[in-house]
Amino acid sequence: MKERIITGEKLDVDISDDNIRPQRLDEYIGQDEVKENIRVFVEAAKIRGEALDHVLLYGPPGLGKTTLAHIIANELGTNIKTTTGPALEKSGDLAAVLSTLEPGDVLFIDEIHRIPKFIEEILYPAMEDFELDIVVGQEGSSRSIKIELPPFTLVGATTRAGDISAPLRDRFGIVSKLNYYSTDELKDIIKRTSRVLEMDISDDAALELANRSRKTPRIANRLFKRVRDFAQVAGETEITKETTLNSLERLKVDKYGLDQVDIEYLESLINKFNGGPVGVETIASSIGEEVSTLEDVVEPYLMQEGFIKRTQRGRIATDKSYSHIKKGGTLFDE
Ligand SMILES: Nc1ncnc2c1ncn2[C@@H]1O[C@H](COP(=O)(O)OP(=O)(O)OP(=O)(O)O)[C@@H](O)[C@H]1O
Ligand SMILES: [Mg+2]
Repeated sequence: MKERIITGEKLDVDISDDNIRPQRLDEYIGQDEVKENIRVFVEAAKIRGEALDHVLLYGPPGLGKTTLAHIIANELGTNIKTTTGPALEKSGDLAAVLSTLEPGDVLFIDEIHRIPKFIEEILYPAMEDFELDIVVGQEGSSRSIKIELPPFTLVGATTRAGDISAPLRDRFGIVSKLNYYSTDELKDIIKRTSRVLEMDISDDAALELANRSRKTPRIANRLFKRVRDFAQVAGETEITKETTLNSLERLKVDKYGLDQVDIEYLESLINKFNGGPVGVETIASSIGEEVSTLEDVVEPYLMQEGFIKRTQRGRIATDKSYSHIKKGGTLFDE
């Protein structure tokens, strides 16, 4: 698969993101409803001296779930221990991480939808009664032991809320969906990143980046960093709109934040399949991409922006994608 700078999913290039991650709720831009609710629940838990209720955060990649999990721990003034669903292979894996918790701590389980079923069942009493029931020893001489846990807060994150079983979902007292960001919010995020990384960016340049970031902070920051590279190599002390447009052209990110894979998708749908309806498998093989990539990463944004529609009989191209592709089918049509 081609590596896409414009995907919301985490890439190797994001590794040094920690310094631009907001640490407190006040620095976390957008998601106002979620943020204000969490502010109240955290405050209430602190007043009562109790652990915060378990929190489930869901939404597309790169919208700030991991960031918010860390912020929750910071605002509570507790530690955060992190693991992932697929890393919990044995009951001992879960026991190991739970046994390190101190009262009030946050246990963050990323990709919680990928937790094995039998681990999930051990998690239920841990979440409800802060008790761990595990079986130890070999078959034949095994026995079940009960371990008391300190009160803690489980923060689960997932991009696939639909894959979480109802009994697990019901054990979260706070369930919050993160939404795509507005252009203004993305602009604020870019401005903030510019301050943290100490590289100025003009207002119109920040707006341009915001418009092409697929409503996703991770992509906004990634584009900012790449454009900064072009600006610094050119010896500029502020990122201008001109440099931004040139860099985006080099990066092949168009005015809607579509990249080559999206364009190939739309071109294939329109030119090879007459605008559909056509199955996603057919499009995938025609452009040499995985079906899962198209379904999880490419199509949600194309659909959200009104470039394609999903029908019973397959995908169809909308007028918007016809006019975008017809203007040359290229990345820069304006
Ligand atoms: N509300 C926000 N304000 C400012 N920056 C943000 C915000 N949300 C996310 N970011 C930035 O976007 C980056 C990606 O966010 P994060 O890693 O929290 O996404 P995620 O939802 O956990 O993604 P994934 O589903 O891939 O795990 C972070 O490094 C952070 O800098
Ligand atoms: Mg994450």
